[in-house]
Amino acid sequence: MQISLVTGGAGFLGSHICDRLIEEGHHVICMDNLLTGSKKNIDQLFDHDRFTFLNHDVTETIDLPKLLEDKKDTLKDTKNLTPKTKNLDNIFHFASPASPKDYQEYPIHTLKVGALGTHHALGLAKAANTKFLLASSSEVYGDPQVNPQPEDYWGHVNPVGPRSAYDEAKRYGESITMAYHNKHNIDTRIARIFNTYGSRMRLRDGRALPNFMRQAIKGKPLTVFGDGSQTRSFCFVDDMVEGIISLLTWNPTPNAKDLTPVFNLGNPDEISILEFANEVIEITDTASEITHEPLPENDPQVRRPDISKAKELLDWSPEVSRRKGLNKVLPYFKEQINKEA
Ligand SMILES: NC(=O)c1ccc[n+]([C@@H]2O[C@H](COP(=O)([O-])OP(=O)(O)OC[C@H]3O[C@@H](n4cnc5c(N)ncnc54)[C@H](O)[C@@H]3O)[C@@H](O)[C@H]2O)c1
Repeated sequence: MQISLVTGGAGFLGSHICDRLIEEGHHVICMDNLLTGSKKNIDQLFDHDRFTFLNHDVTETIDLPKLLEDKKDTLKDTKNLTPKTKNLDNIFHFASPASPKDYQEYPIHTLKVGALGTHHALGLAKAANTKFLLASSSEVYGDPQVNPQPEDYWGHVNPVGPRSAYDEAKRYGESITMAYHNKHNIDTRIARIFNTYGSRMRLRDGRALPNFMRQAIKGKPLTVFGDGSQTRSFCFVDDMVEGIISLLTWNPTPNAKDLTPVFNLGNPDEISILEFANEVIEITDTASEITHEPLPENDPQVRRPDISKAKELLDWSPEVSRRKGLNKVLPYFKEQINKEA
């Protein structure tokens, strides 16, 4: 049985990764300080024999044996999960505020989590000789001057702009991951994740889809920033989880050995934000109109992953069309709105 640590495992994406790893037979240690995540996202896992939750902030040292020892009395499967770092097989490093609203509220924490948090998680990967998968972001490309964005594009980031805490945290996270890869031979994989949506997104996390869904379901006008000609590419969460698992299990062939272990993961089906708002109006069958507000500073004008590398080396590409994905997630948003009411 593999033992996997998922930092940020109580968040939107991390909790879906935890679910999938449990399904695959892993013992999952979910580490989260619940800053932007919630125990509700992992409620379904708490009774599972192969699931352990550790409330821990990754910007603090990660002394896994001690954290597990402290929790020993509550662990069900102590036979397989002896508190030894050496038993660990995989680290999925997902901890980080992720929505613009969150990282602008916690800019220093976001930088600390990308720097100190990634350093601590890599230190654990080195001590335990585990695979290490970093959740990076399309934001490393900033406001890209190249569309679609391939992995070898270096990006266009304003280091002092309103998005810099997140963008630079992710860029630093990639850099230190590569340093451990090159210097200590750690088996690292970097997923540059493009906009992903699905159940467990927070209604008020400020991202485009929850905003549009909330407004449309309530019959209120949908707020589009600028004229809405800026584009994004939205990936359904099940496809993203599949991509992340494919990246974890990727077996670099000798020929591909020198390739940087960095992969774009996302759905290349690009759409303008205005069209996207209209699509949500159609799917929710609402009479809502569209209103415009000023475009935030440094908002990327285009965003579309070039996923040729993932297609070729991971044999992965997304399967769920945007329309299908939006219909799948609609009941979740309706339920959240009912709960909020
Ligand atoms: N959702 C997307 O579209 C997307 C796109 C690109 C990259 N990502 C990356 O994927 C990861 C997860 O994003 P998400 O959308 O699930 O966000 P989220 O906010 O739902 O999840 C992040 C989780 O990290 C936890 N966390 C934050 N700081 C922590 C700390 N110091 N110690 C321990 N836990 C901490 C939060 O409590 C939360 O549970 C992030 O690293 C994000 O940058 C997400």
